[in-house]
Amino acid sequence: MLRAKNLVQLVIKSNLCTTGSVRTAEAMATLSKRGQVAVVTLKNPPLNVLSYPTRASIVQSIKEAEQDASVKSIVLCGSGRSFSAGADITEFANPDLVFKEPNLIEVTKAVEACSKPVVAVMHGTSLGGGVELALGCHYRLLHKAGKIGLPEVHIGLVPGATGTQKVPRVMSIPNAIDMITSGRHISAKEAHKMGIVDKVLEDDYMNEGVAFAESVANDPVGPRRVSQMPVKVDETTPMVFKVAYEKVAAKARGMYSPLFCVKAIEAATKASSFEEGLQMEKNIQTFLAVSEQTPALQYAFFGERAISKWSVPDGSTSYKTAKGQEVKSAAVIGAGTMGVGITMSMVLAGIPTYLTEQNQEYLEKGLKMVQGYLAHGVKQGRMSEDKAKQIFSLVRPTLSYDDLKDVDVVVEAVFENMALKKEIFKKLDGVCKPSAVLASNTSTLDIDEMASATTRPDKVMGMHFFSPAHIMKLLENIRGKDTSPETMATAMDLGKRMKKVSVLVGNCPGFVGNRMLAPYSKEAIFLLEEGALPHEVDQTLEDFGLAMGLCRMGDLAGLDIGYKSRKEFGFIQREGQDDFLRKGERYSPLSDWLVESGRLGQKTGKGFYNYGKPGGRKPEADPEVTQMIMDVSQKAGITRRHIPAQEILERCLYGLINEGFKCLEEQIASSDEDIDMIWLYGYGWPRHTGGPMYYAKNIVGLPKLLERILYYHFQHPNSPYWKPSQLLIDRVSEDHPHASKL
Ligand code: NAI
Repeated sequence: MLRAKNLVQLVIKSNLCTTGSVRTAEAMATLSKRGQVAVVTLKNPPLNVLSYPTRASIVQSIKEAEQDASVKSIVLCGSGRSFSAGADITEFANPDLVFKEPNLIEVTKAVEACSKPVVAVMHGTSLGGGVELALGCHYRLLHKAGKIGLPEVHIGLVPGATGTQKVPRVMSIPNAIDMITSGRHISAKEAHKMGIVDKVLEDDYMNEGVAFAESVANDPVGPRRVSQMPVKVDETTPMVFKVAYEKVAAKARGMYSPLFCVKAIEAATKASSFEEGLQMEKNIQTFLAVSEQTPALQYAFFGERAISKWSVPDGSTSYKTAKGQEVKSAAVIGAGTMGVGITMSMVLAGIPTYLTEQNQEYLEKGLKMVQGYLAHGVKQGRMSEDKAKQIFSLVRPTLSYDDLKDVDVVVEAVFENMALKKEIFKKLDGVCKPSAVLASNTSTLDIDEMASATTRPDKVMGMHFFSPAHIMKLLENIRGKDTSPETMATAMDLGKRMKKVSVLVGNCPGFVGNRMLAPYSKEAIFLLEEGALPHEVDQTLEDFGLAMGLCRMGDLAGLDIGYKSRKEFGFIQREGQDDFLRKGERYSPLSDWLVESGRLGQKTGKGFYNYGKPGGRKPEADPEVTQMIMDVSQKAGITRRHIPAQEILERCLYGLINEGFKCLEEQIASSDEDIDMIWLYGYGWPRHTGGPMYYAKNIVGLPKLLERILYYHFQHPNSPYWKPSQLLIDRVSEDHPHASKL
């Protein structure tokens, strides 16, 4: 019976054992009644995650509603921002809690077994276990602005609470594969079209949901139990899976979970019963849970959240103590590749932004690029034409610096040249209001030197976006020696507003990302000099899971970028220079020769590879480059040899990681997570290995890493980045005291 005022609040208090400690948890599902409809409302703020007490409350509430003779049907809904964001992943650290009965599978079974129609009324973003809970209901309704998704694949798992078995019962197999392997958020309209949602609700979604529940009160629930529905297989099904495996494997870059998602869905098509398929889902989940990839992916998931709680390594400033200033308007100097992307990021975040150039022609070219990006967004269905127009209206083209006098932030994105950047900073300092933050998008140059051209070094930052700036999620914010906490917070807040993964780092050549990239790039070229070819180096790195090998990445970004930077840093004095030791370091002129012979990469149709035409994308090995590589080897006096894949991998990655340890040691980076997020979001590092620092510690192992770094240090004494980091030695010494003698 429903009690006083038709409201029973189920509060389950239980002693939950977390790792070593005991805590009391409260979670709720409230049960109320509207006419003959019982309403079970999840109340586990903020996102109604399905922790053990919540699961128990749901089962209890459904049971109570079922036993109440006056109830004809049941609505299951969520309070607050959304129906349910799924499993409580903080429970993952303690499997006893995940499996504590009722576990999520048992909850879905209890809901499905209810003899009265249960209607899920969803709003907000419902994810993972939340969607699986809804699949336990007999009907699923979703508010028109709501979204659903099964993101388990991103943390190395499959939707393992019946999801892989039920989704292919409510939609076509290709759609089920897409939904589960992509983990993407699906709009209400699309979810309805796919078949997983029975009805899209308008703004008055609760009343509509209750009315729907009333309308199905007398309908039999049997045919609505998803576990009893057939999977839609036909003669094309084997081919669908064959194509899916190939497509998913190509995209997964070595990550297991997307492939196992396909396998679990395939099991649904082959199993003789729902229960048999469910057992297969369980086996797959168990395998994934103990693989080395799942903790790495979960580390990456939590890492992204951890870095938003930023701090300076000495602890003097943090997100807690520093308050940023409000950014009402901004300006970008330079409408080239980066300036246009940065302007896009600003206006997409709703910030009116001046865009300025050196002349009208370049300014118009930049504006056309902005329009092109917006038109592409409309074509892709990401925004309406009206929205694109409204966003474009926030772009304020100008050739006059006077227009910038009231903006709150300026991001400079002109050529990578210190003299030019200093001239611009001086000009900005004279024009902009005293409180304005002046930032540079430089990828390598000294922020303090730029700050020295102004009277406000406390307001100067680096804001290093990645190309294409409106798409790439990473923003490396660089603090100079005089940057104030308020300026740091302004840049970090602005990054958040632009939906970037923002990492605060210190000032040094290349900052964190490009500094670590330097040994990697150098080693890749030395490997070419010693015997490898571009496709061999790239293939090894791509097999490891990097989005792109070094040579392909260079061709895409433009080989002239590195060339200009080497010139700026004095490594190139004149064209055609062919000495192999510069500034006391081993040096290969190969990349310079490529640029000097007009091979700038994809944009000129030729770089390390031949692309057929300027702007071409398909790389082909080029005999001309092979000859150039042979010439370099000969001039360097190197007898070419076969280089095993393991050596390619170690030499490209271990030097990079050693540099990461040096960034920590010198307090350029604050934490392993900061470095890992930089590499995951800026450089296409494979997420299933967690990032370079996680990979070093948990997959390679620090003692082995140190041993190999020492080996290469002795082999290549003229490459300073092989000198082992003291911090790495210290960390190894914690377990191996003899290492401290190094
Ligand atoms: P770009 O050559 O495409 O664009 C630079 C633009 O600045 C040109 O349109 C030029 O006309 C304009 N410009 C030059 N002097 C100017 C002045 N006095 N006033 C106004 N505009 C002026 O160069 P890109 O690639 O956009 O690079 C810009 C900056 O971003 C550089 O510092 C670069 O190192 C950095 N960066 C580049 C990345 C890339 O992948 N291209 C990635 C991250 C940073």
